[in-house]
Amino acid sequence: MLILGIETSCDETSASVMRGEDVLSNVISSQEVHAQFGGVVPELAARAHLQMIIPVVRRALTDAGVSLTDIEAIAVTAEPGLHGALLVGENFAKALAMTHNVPLMPINHLEAHIYSGFLERRDIAFPFLALVVSGGHTMIVLVHSIHQLQLLGTTQDDAAGEAFDKVAKLLGLGYPGGPAVDRLAAKGNPKTVVFPKPLMHEDNFDFSFSGMKTSALNIIRKPSNTFSKEDICASFQSAVVQILATKTIRAAQRYNVRDIVVAGGVSANSHLRADMLRRCDALHIRLTVPRLAYCTDNAAMITNLAAMKFAAGIVPPATVASATSTLLPFRV
Ligand code: KG4
Ligand code: ZN
Repeated sequence: MLILGIETSCDETSASVMRGEDVLSNVISSQEVHAQFGGVVPELAARAHLQMIIPVVRRALTDAGVSLTDIEAIAVTAEPGLHGALLVGENFAKALAMTHNVPLMPINHLEAHIYSGFLERRDIAFPFLALVVSGGHTMIVLVHSIHQLQLLGTTQDDAAGEAFDKVAKLLGLGYPGGPAVDRLAAKGNPKTVVFPKPLMHEDNFDFSFSGMKTSALNIIRKPSNTFSKEDICASFQSAVVQILATKTIRAAQRYNVRDIVVAGGVSANSHLRADMLRRCDALHIRLTVPRLAYCTDNAAMITNLAAMKFAAGIVPPATVASATSTLLPFRV
């Protein structure tokens, strides 16, 4: 089946074409307009999607070497995300599906992150555990089957990516902050600054990152602060990664899974990747972290989940709106 997937939930306009399990194209256009504001401005995001949606879809078709009339189904991110941004993709996809008389599969963005590991290997065994860490969400999900997800824990306040972004902003590192913190951390000493590790030892799978952000604020604004940016980044990153990894591994052991997928924008973090790999290797658990282009927001993961759903015999619902929150209880 030849599927065109579209993603416009936040600040990347993306389109991808897959034939069966093969990704033929994955075009991602990142909006730069938000950098000056230190965060995504919803209204500007929607307008930028309107500008980019046609060129991005055209490019995805060209890169794949196919034309619109070859497409047999369309997949689109239906939630969660910024409403105005989502509407651009949803309406565009609806119109295409209607004019070409092909089915439209609405996809939950977080569920797509969870299954992005399958873009790297197809033999991930159910039940598997997914740690989804992005700018908007941090959660541990037990995936029983393509029909059943179990949310084990989530953040009680900020998402991990949001915490990275806020610390980066305090340090004047620009937006998005995660990659900048990652880069500086490589030159710092993670043992210099002591950060709290909220909920790490609690017997649950929830997270809380807002206290760490406040702690960073107090350290950075203190007149007597002599810590370098590198040391603050290294210490902060190390604490966040320790929390994420400790809780994920604990869940994997509790539920006896053999496969873990780490996905979402923060899974691009070099320390998180290295630390999870070390811990998983020690326990003979297989870790899958998608390549960078499949970690941050992209349409290949949307197309991939649609392909998996079609392959499992899941029929698209009658309307996009009625389809979306059957598995994950999130709406941003
Ligand atoms: O999944 P994503 O692209 O968008 C959302 O759905 O939120 O995630 C974006 C988040 C941002 O907060 C960004 O700072 C973070 O992922 N991020 C990173 C790294 N690369 C991106 N965080 C830590 N280290 C990185 N290398
Ligand atoms: Zn995302």
